[in-house]
Amino acid sequence: MSSGVPTIQIQEATASHSLGELGKARGLEIGCAFSGHADARYRRLLAHHSRLVVPEWQLKPRFLRPRRVSPYNFGPCDAIAGFAASNGMAFHGHTLFWHEEPIRWAHGKSFERVKSDYGGFIRDVMHHYPQAVSWDVFNEIVGEQEPLRDEFLISTFGLQFIDYCLRLARENSPTARLVINDYNLECSSDWSLPKQDHMLRLLDALRAIDSPLHAIGIQGHLSSVYRASAASTVRFIDRIADLGLDVFISELDVNDSTMPADIAVRDGEVAAYYEEFLTAVLSRRSVKRLVLWGISDFDNWIVRRQTQEKRRSGKARPALFDDQLQPKPAFDAVVRALESAPPR
Ligand code: G3I
Repeated sequence: MSSGVPTIQIQEATASHSLGELGKARGLEIGCAFSGHADARYRRLLAHHSRLVVPEWQLKPRFLRPRRVSPYNFGPCDAIAGFAASNGMAFHGHTLFWHEEPIRWAHGKSFERVKSDYGGFIRDVMHHYPQAVSWDVFNEIVGEQEPLRDEFLISTFGLQFIDYCLRLARENSPTARLVINDYNLECSSDWSLPKQDHMLRLLDALRAIDSPLHAIGIQGHLSSVYRASAASTVRFIDRIADLGLDVFISELDVNDSTMPADIAVRDGEVAAYYEEFLTAVLSRRSVKRLVLWGISDFDNWIVRRQTQEKRRSGKARPALFDDQLQPKPAFDAVVRALESAPPR
């Protein structure tokens, strides 16, 4: 073992159920965000549990082509796509549009210019990854106070731009499932219900013009501060299903920032959070995919950024496996939730 880690640890971590196999037995795709980290133990754990890979940041617009004159920086994402292919894992394209990582060089003043620049970007990226089984065509375009996010292209061209990108994505990949992905659709906070309504109004408008769309991504970044409401999320999932759309739980994790510092207590609360939320949402057959936004604390965005947030407890422990890649109570909780899920 090149990393010098005793093989027993790998055997323990991978001898457990495969989440991917548990999901597959119920018609549920199980995926995971992948940072591209080189550690062999981490990669083995990921390949054991995940049947789909999502590049954590390497397929975002500004990362790929920050300036018009920049060549496409496909290398890092190619490596992730190669890992997926060599492990028989599907590949999800995240994302062709995100306000946090915009390609401002494609922010033309006329719609014709936007179709040329942004349309060209979409074509180039989708042609580079023909194997993608699905694409987040849009990430986080729905508003909380306003129906749509206050972002240049969305605010300037609105539904015309959204419809154009969806149709172009359909044209460039006739078989990939097209997704609109967003966060805070699962919270009990007072801004979540208006955001759900704004998403449903957008979906109604897209449906009225036959815009191609297959699924909505509910990110599922569960917070100890803004508690998720499983019941509200299930009601929302049912309203999305009434529109003929599937739901992906697309970025599931639990931020334990205000949970008790005691690790055993905190791990127990995190596990209960995962189990309550997942058992509820997986009861709906329209939920077709579950993606963990990091399989372990070993390489995890919440752990990386924890110094930027107020934390009551010690080092963040958001994932199913700890930073030694050992299963935590949250892993067993997710296994139970998957085992209780009806087939779809
Ligand atoms: O690893 C490099 C390092 O080598 C370099 O020195 C450093 C400075 O450039 O960057 C490091 O990569 C950063 C990476 O996180 C690892 O820390 C990227 O720049 C940074 O963009 C990346 O942040 C990602 C963030 O999206 C923005 O792309 C997070 O990993 C990722 O978890 C987060 O994921 C988002 C979803 O896409 C959308 N939903 C919310 C979710 C969490 O914010």
